[in-house]
Amino acid sequence: MFVVRGGQPLRGTVAVSGAKNAALPIMAAALALDGPTTLRNVPELADVTTLGQVLQSLGVQCERLPGGVLTLAVDDDQPCLADYELVRRMRASVCVLGPLLGRRKRACVSLPGGCNIGHRPIDLHLKGLRALGAEITVERGYVFAKADRLIGTEIYLGGSFGSTVTGTCNVMTAACFAEGTTTIAAAACEPEVVDLGHFLNRAGAKISGLGTPVLHIKGVERLHGVEHTVIPDRIEAATLMVASAITGGELRITNVCRPHLAAVTDTLRSIGVSIEGSGTTLRVAGHQPLRPCDITALPYPGIPTDVQAQLMALLTQADGISVVNDKVFPDRFLHIPELCRLGANVRREGASGIIAGGRPLSGACVMASDLRASAALLLAALAADGDSVIRRIYHLDRGYERLERKLNVLGADIHRVTDTPENMPQSLLLSADEECEPTVDSTDSPPPPKFLTRARQHAE
Ligand code: UD1
Repeated sequence: MFVVRGGQPLRGTVAVSGAKNAALPIMAAALALDGPTTLRNVPELADVTTLGQVLQSLGVQCERLPGGVLTLAVDDDQPCLADYELVRRMRASVCVLGPLLGRRKRACVSLPGGCNIGHRPIDLHLKGLRALGAEITVERGYVFAKADRLIGTEIYLGGSFGSTVTGTCNVMTAACFAEGTTTIAAAACEPEVVDLGHFLNRAGAKISGLGTPVLHIKGVERLHGVEHTVIPDRIEAATLMVASAITGGELRITNVCRPHLAAVTDTLRSIGVSIEGSGTTLRVAGHQPLRPCDITALPYPGIPTDVQAQLMALLTQADGISVVNDKVFPDRFLHIPELCRLGANVRREGASGIIAGGRPLSGACVMASDLRASAALLLAALAADGDSVIRRIYHLDRGYERLERKLNVLGADIHRVTDTPENMPQSLLLSADEECEPTVDSTDSPPPPKFLTRARQHAE
């Protein structure tokens, strides 16, 4: 668990790591390449390690070298089974489906299973692969896919919540091995999909339209080994931007790709955060007072759903009513009750969180439910008065490279300790005579009727 002492403005320079969500599908695609692959700027994360284990079980040798380098080389192209025990630990393991089917002509991949951020089917992945001619059955919790030949065709990949990021990765990679040309309409435009496309093109694929919703892919016989540098992590960059804003600090954030952060930058500016950018660097300064804002998480180039929770944490400190909607994962709000434990006034209405902001946060013991929720709780704890404890930080370790070390260098006070009663800060232990004496005034007036009316309008 983390023990966090809040209240320190963060100052200094911090470098963003490589993008987890780009590295994972690229690693998976390496199993379809003939010849060794060298990846640079690969973050050291639990998810990267897990996918490395999945790939090893599929006959790919993965070696981590110093300086963010990962080498991958296929030494056995026969295995086609991605087992439940590995896939259940990380949904992104499903990214091996398209590469396996494309290169090895068959795949048996466990269905990923439940997830804390809401229902996450893979029907669009399967629809796209079936359209290419794969025979697919789902039984005993596994997807069985086979195709002696894949044939290029026109595929529409849109769903009720927009396109699918990893689904586009799977279908695009399989289509590289199809006979003829494939057109994917409603393809995901996320930079991570584009990075995978660049990687595949460098390996000999013929993909055009990357970054737009319509991709054209001319099939090829083989893809060859390649070197590639993974793009910077826009979600980590956004998290650091919010860290600067929520603590009233000033950070110089390096190794960013600024165009990937356009929606986040615009939103933070409208909240009152100063942001200046030049080249691959951003300077972000938090000022008081912050302004409330209505935001909606959308597919790229909108505000990423992966930053929704962090922005909500920030908006708890903006005086007034803010509304946060999530159109990508409408149930991704498990962080709300935990933010409330830190003193925030947030309520959920359908696919929205309604925030009555401006109330100071105070340290408490909270529980992380998923990766980005844990980042949001850490940010809120940095802004809170006193000590906080964040439990289940293994979620954070899945997707952020050494985040607490990076933040501590900037002035944060975060300790990683084992979750035992002795490590609980004294300030969070109540004695019997304190039990009925809150230190925070709990007699705050309830939200005014205007707040409720507005919330309901938004929910409709
Ligand atoms: C990826 C990211 C994740 C991010 C998400 C949305 C990786 C490893 N993970 O997840 O961090 O939050 O994109 O930007 O890159 N859907 C369907 N059917 C499908 C597939 C998806 O209905 O077959 C729905 C999902 O339930 C969700 C929406 O489409 O509502 C977007 O999901 P998707 O883009 O597939 O997310 P992931 O690729 O799993």
